[in-house]
Amino acid sequence: MDTSLDSPSATRGWPPPRWSRRSGWARNQPISQLMAQALQYPELISLAAGFVDNETLPVEKTRQALAELMDDPRLARAALQYGSTAGNPELRDRLRARLAHMDQKPELEQAIELDQVIVTAGSNQLLHLVAEALFDPGDVCLCAAPSYFVFLGTLANLGVHSVPVETDQDGLVPEALEHQLAHFQRSGQLERVKAVYLVSYFDNPAGITLPLKRREQVLEILRRWNRHQRIYLIEDGAYRLLRYYGEDVPSLRSLDESGQLVVWTDTFSKCFSPGVRVGWGVLPPELAQVVLDLKGNVDFGSPHFAQCVINQVLARGLLEPHVEVLRRAYRTKLEAMLQALEEHLGPLPGCRWIRPQGGLYVWLTLPPEVDTRPEGPLFHAAVERGVLYVPGHYCYPTHGGPVPHNTIRLSFGVQPPERIAQGVRLLAEAITEVL
Ligand SMILES: Cc1ncc(COP(=O)(O)O)c(C=O)c1O
Repeated sequence: MDTSLDSPSATRGWPPPRWSRRSGWARNQPISQLMAQALQYPELISLAAGFVDNETLPVEKTRQALAELMDDPRLARAALQYGSTAGNPELRDRLRARLAHMDQKPELEQAIELDQVIVTAGSNQLLHLVAEALFDPGDVCLCAAPSYFVFLGTLANLGVHSVPVETDQDGLVPEALEHQLAHFQRSGQLERVKAVYLVSYFDNPAGITLPLKRREQVLEILRRWNRHQRIYLIEDGAYRLLRYYGEDVPSLRSLDESGQLVVWTDTFSKCFSPGVRVGWGVLPPELAQVVLDLKGNVDFGSPHFAQCVINQVLARGLLEPHVEVLRRAYRTKLEAMLQALEEHLGPLPGCRWIRPQGGLYVWLTLPPEVDTRPEGPLFHAAVERGVLYVPGHYCYPTHGGPVPHNTIRLSFGVQPPERIAQGVRLLAEAITEVL
């Protein structure tokens, strides 16, 4: 076999490869490093990775769903065959009904056409396709600051400017959204703004759920600005089912009477299994068509087998009891984290955090002089003690506004309660050292 091309000398003297401009925009994204770090140092207490709890993964329920699927040769063959670009129609029908049920709005089921429901390989794929459908390089997506950093990376990949909209303890501030839109209009650049992005339940990273009143205010603002030009609201509902306290709030999607404004994205990664990786969404009709055109050229359908498994899980009523198990487990973990924060960080001046009612994250703000970035002293002090966190600056949109360097995202999803408490104690020691 001629292996000459494998040796470095074979390409000596060649000019360097030429990558796309887009690949340059993709550099330095944090997610892969963070996932790899967690796997590379299993001995460290990772309060960083957004993995879900390993112990509660639905092994038995998946086995049951799989057995029922495989026991019926007709269903089994269909599951093992390619699906369609939009996804399994039976599953999409169920998903439409689910959204209407969650929002206690039965008429929504009739109002949503099946063509508007799209199933993807995780909701990240859907977020990516929506971004591809809407944005050209240089366009603007207004994002709650802080925001889900992987979506900020998706925007960066496409050359889109993510521009911050201020948030407070209740999430995105409606007046700040109005202010940003007015700013773009004054500078004659409104047409660059194509969408607003927010995680509406127990957001990643801050753990906040946008209250009903603000949902209505945000929609009122967008309805008004949509008279000038179309600006979509991308509502990421990834954590909606992971509620441990209080009552559910209607989705922005259900409050959008026109059905033309809000893009709803959701996933079974957090409430069932990220390994199965099924995401879904309900899109305004015209946008759905554009997304399907793009998706047809990408994969002409996400893995059908995974969709059939989820369809079986829903058909057999296996999801709800599983979500109850998750709620109990995560609530205990959240309480362990909040208690440890109270005990170990409470006495430290200038440290504060948001108490979430669900989700997987607690957002921490430290005194302004503490730099939480990986190159700063705290990160090293924390790793030396054996604990990992996500530096909060990753979660800020890239264009506009000073980015705070004194925030941290802590995840309570993965570790058992004792390790959460220990991790917070070690983090507090590291903070005390650098203060
Ligand atoms: C806010 C948010 N949206 C979407 C996702 C995507 O999840 P998946 O692609 O696994 O469905 C995540 C995953 O962490 C998330 O935190």
